[in-house]
Amino acid sequence: MSFPSPETIRADFPIFRREFHGRPLAYLDNAATTQKPRAVIEALVDFYEHHNANTHSGVHTLSEEATELYEEARGRAARFLNAPSPRCIVFTSGTTAAINLVAQSWARPRLQPGDEIVLTAMEHHSNLLPWQQVARETGASLRYLELDGEGRLATEHMEKAVTEATRLLAVTHVSNVLGTINPVERLVRQARAVGALTIVDAAQSTPHLPVDVQALDCDFLAFSGHKVYGPMGIGVLYGKSEHLDAMEPHASGGGMVLRVERDGADWMEAPWRFEAGTPNVAGAVALAAALDYLQGFDGEALRGQEIALTGYALERLGERSGLRLYGPSDPAQRAGAIPFSVEGVHPHDVAEILDGQSVAVRGGHHCCQPLMAHLGVPALVRASLGLYNDTNDIDRLAEGLERVAGIFRHD
Ligand SMILES: Cc1ncc(COP(=O)(O)O)c(C=O)c1O
Repeated sequence: MSFPSPETIRADFPIFRREFHGRPLAYLDNAATTQKPRAVIEALVDFYEHHNANTHSGVHTLSEEATELYEEARGRAARFLNAPSPRCIVFTSGTTAAINLVAQSWARPRLQPGDEIVLTAMEHHSNLLPWQQVARETGASLRYLELDGEGRLATEHMEKAVTEATRLLAVTHVSNVLGTINPVERLVRQARAVGALTIVDAAQSTPHLPVDVQALDCDFLAFSGHKVYGPMGIGVLYGKSEHLDAMEPHASGGGMVLRVERDGADWMEAPWRFEAGTPNVAGAVALAAALDYLQGFDGEALRGQEIALTGYALERLGERSGLRLYGPSDPAQRAGAIPFSVEGVHPHDVAEILDGQSVAVRGGHHCCQPLMAHLGVPALVRASLGLYNDTNDIDRLAEGLERVAGIFRHD
């Protein structure tokens, strides 16, 4: 295990050799997607140059190699989550697809009027719209856990998080807007006590925190490759075998059946029955390379570094008049995202002016419109950290904000 400086880490990422508007890029949009280290890019190229074939179908050498690499990647994803078996890992195109799979294959056939799905007021649309759809389809209802003034789940709501009517708790591990780390273990225990199942949206926690599905004891968990320094178009659904084995596939076609007749078919076992069609083999292989890359660092040191950098950012941004920060004030209670607003300036304008300074942040609703409504804002600016960021990036952000203030000064 090693812990190199952010500068040394940046050298692993070819994109940072590029200049933007004549300056190196201060990339602070990691919650949207992370940049890719050379090892991940090379894994993609290596697959297509040396091993490309379809899986599980051919009897030829290349097909066997591709199948082996794909299944090895499944094992790598299982180890990343400390899942008890690779058979608990379904490859999907990302978190969104993984949550929709659970919504359609587990929830839709099982929920009915009177049943309750519990969400939080900080869910990404990807962990909200699939449940709205299931609620419409089944007559189940949605209930929300509200937030306190610092964007954490309010204690009084957590105490009453679930009821006898709760069948499913769908909660984000880390908020993509506020950065808040939710006490998922506690919520899962509460859900289990009333016999409800749990799905954890780990899209924003997997890049920053160790995620252990056995310690969390959740029933399902989803994450995206592209947020953990892997490629786009690949993601993971973890599910306990007892659930996956009992679920019907949400989509069907080639590659997931044992036997097909004119009037029926027998599905393969889980997880393969949930992977209809040609899978994203190169994506899975490169995801495995990304997980190797991420876990090649000392996780505790990485987290310590991130907490310190978050503290630095909160302090530097907090000094600015007219700038309002959102999310927990304690850097240790958050991971990645640092949202803020600038008085009198639309977040899109802030992001655009910062872009002119080669500082990449996002301005918008961040696929969290109900959260924006709760906060009483149409949109926010969000800076979000990755493992290659350092205080220089935050200083560049602060300088860029000085320019925003200069442009919008009305005196
Ligand atoms: C918390 C959270 N959930 C779900 C998603 C959706 O991920 P994807 O677009 O990779 O499916 C995101 C992406 O921003 C996210 O931040």
